[in-house]
Parts: sequence; C-alpha cells; structure tokens
Amino acid sequence: MLAWNNPLDRKRQGTHYADRMHRILSVCQDCGILWHDERVTYRNGVVETKRVDDITPVGTVLVTPQYEKYGLRVNPRVLPRLRRMADQFAYALNVPSASVEVDGNIVYIRVPIPHEGKMPLITFRQAWNIQPDIPVGSLLLGVDDDHHQLLLDMTAPTNVHAAVIGMTGSGKSTLMRTMILSAELVGGAQVALFDPSNGFYPLSGHPSVWRGGLFRTPDECEIGLEALANGLGRRREGLLYVFVDEVPELIVQRPRIREYLARLAQAGRHAGIHLIIGAQHLLASQLGPMTMRNIPVRLVGRVADRTAAYNATARNDTGAEHLRGRGDFIVVNGSTVRHFQAACVTPDLLEDWSRRYPPRPPMVPVRAREEVAAVAAVEREASWGSGGMGGRPLDEIPPSVLREIRRYVEQHGKEPSSNWIYRLTKAHLPTGGFNRAKARRALELALNPEAYQPQGEAR
Ligand SMILES: Nc1ncnc2c1ncn2[C@@H]1O[C@H](COP(=O)(O)OP(=O)(O)O)[C@@H](O)[C@H]1O
Ligand SMILES: [Mg+2]
Repeated sequence: MLAWNNPLDRKRQGTHYADRMHRILSVCQDCGILWHDERVTYRNGVVETKRVDDITPVGTVLVTPQYEKYGLRVNPRVLPRLRRMADQFAYALNVPSASVEVDGNIVYIRVPIPHEGKMPLITFRQAWNIQPDIPVGSLLLGVDDDHHQLLLDMTAPTNVHAAVIGMTGSGKSTLMRTMILSAELVGGAQVALFDPSNGFYPLSGHPSVWRGGLFRTPDECEIGLEALANGLGRRREGLLYVFVDEVPELIVQRPRIREYLARLAQAGRHAGIHLIIGAQHLLASQLGPMTMRNIPVRLVGRVADRTAAYNATARNDTGAEHLRGRGDFIVVNGSTVRHFQAACVTPDLLEDWSRRYPPRPPMVPVRAREEVAAVAAVEREASWGSGGMGGRPLDEIPPSVLREIRRYVEQHGKEPSSNWIYRLTKAHLPTGGFNRAKARRALELALNPEAYQPQGEAR
C-alpha cells in the first residue's frame, strides 16, 4: 500500500538532543516508572533485590522537518502511565506540546520544533529526487519521519480513493498540487481538476488534463462531475485521477455533486477512476456514510480538536488534533497511521510549469437536453420579438458547440472542417452529429454572430 524508499539519514546526536533525552528520563524517574526493584530468590535460599530498567533510551534522535523524536524502549507494564505523560514532557522540555506514540516496539516522545519563516519545509523537487522513478499509479505525498519518500499507490485495492482533510491553512491544496504535479510528470494517466478556489490553476494546462482545463465555477464542476459519473458505464482505458478541492462548499452550492461523487466513489475502482477530494471537515452527513466508506485513505492535516480528528480519520487514537499545519500530515488507512511532511510545489516551479503548459478554460461537456432547450428558448424569443409567431422550428445549435468551434479557431488559426464539427456534435449531443449544412451554419454563427440570419426566418 504505502511505499517507503531510499533512506535519507537524519538521525542526530549532540548535546541539545542528549540534554532533552536526559530530561525525558528524569521525568520518568520522578514518576517512578524508570525502573523497579525485583526480589529474586535463588535455589540456595538467598534472596536478593535487583533493579530492573523499565525504560531505556534508544541511542539516536530522529529529526523531521517539524519534530524531534526521542525513542524509548519501554516495559509494557509502564506503557499506560507513560502514554498519559505528554504534558509533563512538554513542561520539562519547555515546549508548547509533546505527544507519546507507540511505533512497533519503540515509544517515541514527539517534540515540535519551532516554526520559522515561510520557506517550504520540503520542496517537491527534494521529495521527488529521493527516488525519481515513481511508478504509474502512485502519487507523491512527501517524506515520512525517516526521510523516506512517501508515495500513495492509488491502484492498490485497499487504497483506490483518498480524502485530504484539515482546517484552512493546514496545507490541503498544497498537498493536492504535489499529487497532481507528480501525476503529470509520471504520465500514464489523465487528471481531472475541479477547484473553486483556483489553486490547481497553474497545473491545468498540461496535456494530460481531462478536457483541457480546470473546472472552476460550481456550474462547471457540476456539469463535469456529472459527465464523469454518467460515463461510468462506458468502457474507458487507462487511469483517471479526479481531484476535487473544497468539496463541502461545492456540495452546498450544487447538491447534486454529492450524488456524482457517491457514484464515482462506488464504481470508480472498476473504471480506473480514482477520487482525491479536499475538505475542511469530512462529515458523513454531508457526503453520505456509503461514500465515506468508499474513501479509505485519509490524509489528515491540522484539525481543530479530537472530534474533528475522529471525523476525519474514523479512529480515536491518531493524535491528529496535535498536528501543526504547514504540511504536517498523517496518512490513515484502516489501522495504519503514518506521519509525513507534505512536499510543497514552490511558486517558481508552478510558474515554470504554467509557462510551459499555459492553462486554458476547460471544454465543458455539453449537458444535452437542458442546454438545447435553453438555446431554443433564447432563439424563439429573438425571432418572436422581431417577426411574430410561426415559421419553421429554429436550428438548435447549443452555445457549447459554438464555444468549441471558437476554441478550435483560436488554437489552430483556421476553421474546423465540417467533419470535425460532425464528430464533435456526434460525441456530445443526443440529437446526433450535424450534417454539412448545419455544420456550416454553426461555423457562421460561431465566427460571425451578428451577421448570421437564421434560415427560413421571415424578416
Ligand atoms: N507542505 C508545506 N510546506 C510548507 N508550508 C506549507 C505547506 N503546505 C502549506 N503551507 C503553508 O500554509 C499555507 C496554506 O496552505 P494551503 O495549501 O492553501 O492550505 P489549505 O488548502 O488547507 O487551506 C500556504 O500558503 C503555505 O504558506
Ligand atoms: Mg485550500
């Protein structure tokens, strides 16, 4: 499921760390859990008292971008007490908070390092360069506590879909940008982008982007997600990642998005579609319990409190409420919890990328019947206003077709062929492809709307 590559050794020794470890052990001693006496009776009847250590330090200290981790080997009998001592450690070390975590047979006292400045703590390039040959189907997240590159293999059957959760400023959009850029660099997959906050914009010009651009307004997002959900029955080849940021806001504005996400989450795994959604809170009441179950991977950043941590992870003991923000995340899937520092795509890299692949508006799928009806209504109004009732029914040329034609002209510097228009309309309209005459009318209307006179209209 999760892959850990290529260790970058950052284990530390030195007086600062030795001093802190010493203070940690002093706290344990003061609480009477560092050692205990055991009476040993030998066969010859001699009774002796022996001191048994319950807590011994692990030689080195792990230093991550946001934490120092002091490892202890602990006798299980004192573990319950030790786990409740986080506040005492924080006090002794003169830091705002500390936490006690069990990882295998080692207990770590996790101590935050003060934040300084606005520099990214791990850049995309640094995380990428640890092991640049990321396989198709995996997305880059960042680095874990041992400074290994952390990937999320979306194609593993226990992963499939992921939610990025945390309060504003926790680094959700930053993490999602890292995942998107890694997908674009690795190749072999399409990337659909939905983001009302526009944070994905600089990454939306790459050729692998579904329908050529970022779906931004709630309207566009609704239509795009509907098209994806409706396309589920059809056979499609290859992988498609669907990134949707600010999901709760989108659902409030366009409630049908909830259903489209539900369908994608349910059927996506068979269709090669993988959802990655961003949300400040992830609530079953908003998304539906079924969809929550269908999104097993939770990438959780800073959250307000224990309740929010529980809602985000569906578990009680992850300690997510202690996360610090600025890309400090855990990845939770079932019973596994891993800390990591999210990699950050730096502004200069974003700028380079958008210069190389200039972002464009997306080709919004035509939502067939409604759009046709709307256009018909507008045209009817226009003709009735000027010429009265009657006459033959008007051509129904949806504005989206006109938009696509203009886009083609803009991109290619020439008019599309009638065949091209036929293929476009055949693919997207339920009424079928335009014939040659109608294609020509669509072309005229698209390029020269004022001069265009609908045929057969009495003026
Ligand atoms: N991985 C990171 N490393 C360093 N700083 C980060 C990281 N992620 C976020 N930040 C900081 O936090 C701010 C908010 O990040 P953002 O991704 O917009 O959060 P969200 O989408 O959760 O509101 C960023 O402008 C940046 O300063
Ligand atoms: Mg955001």
